[in-house]
Amino acid sequence: MKSIIDIMELSTAEIDELVSTALDIIDNPAKYSEKCRGKKLATLFFEPSTRTRLSFEAAMYELGGNVIGFSEASSSSASKGESVADTARVVSCYADIIAMRHPKEGAPYVASLNATVPVINAGDGGHNHPTQTLADLLTIHKEKGGFENLTVGLCGDLKFGRTVHSLIAAMSRYSGVKFVLISPDELKIPEYIKTDILDPKGIEYVESASLEAVMPELDILYMTRVQGERFFNEADYIRLRDTYILSTEKLAVAKKDLCIMHPLPRVNEISVGVDADPRACYFKQVLYGKYMRMALILKLLEEAGK
Ligand code: NCD
Repeated sequence: MKSIIDIMELSTAEIDELVSTALDIIDNPAKYSEKCRGKKLATLFFEPSTRTRLSFEAAMYELGGNVIGFSEASSSSASKGESVADTARVVSCYADIIAMRHPKEGAPYVASLNATVPVINAGDGGHNHPTQTLADLLTIHKEKGGFENLTVGLCGDLKFGRTVHSLIAAMSRYSGVKFVLISPDELKIPEYIKTDILDPKGIEYVESASLEAVMPELDILYMTRVQGERFFNEADYIRLRDTYILSTEKLAVAKKDLCIMHPLPRVNEISVGVDADPRACYFKQVLYGKYMRMALILKLLEEAGK
């Protein structure tokens, strides 16, 4: 049973296939509107979410399917002490596919070992967020025409930002990609991303504390929120949360075809004045996320013989 826990479980050929399915869905929505008739998606969200959960739900409805689930741990049996493994076994009796978000790293993986239907990781702690990366990849593909020869700036909370970790892993497979890692010292990228992904592949990257200094060289600027909920100390969060605020002034030296992305929710990292700039892609990114989730649900159900 194929589940998607880490973006690297999808080959580049499979990513290409998902991108082309998503593009076909965008062009021919009616062709897909009955594909999941009679099928159920369970959204098991043990951590708050607006975009990701509703995106999965909208994706399943647009495929003609149904959705069951919960949106907070307190309204599930987890509050009675049920294990993730048991929840996965139980929900497999009701649903054809599961999307799970959990504050603990590895929880969706445990679910996938115990479920009898495919499990999609919808974000696990500070670790991984493969379907956000699928949204990011479709955005990059639409805006840049492909994934090669791009200088990708990632800015903000590179330590706890799971979307950053998954995106670096995914983009590191394409040739000519260079990363510019922009963060305060306390929120630098975890060492394992360097030792397991960047260094072995000889991928070029630089670390910078200044967004202004690196702005002119970027093709993509991926802004992120400082992940307050993963901090141990409120004072540190307050001190670091507004380190980077992207403004129209700062964009004056950026490339004319820069693609500005953000997984959302935005707090203060991008001032609203930037929204009107044609380079702002973060709301399109939300829409692309729904199409990529549709493509992924179709692929996993087909592979599961459902
Ligand atoms: C991200 C997440 O949950 O990691 N949001 C999302 O899924 N679109 C980013 C964030 O919460 O900052």
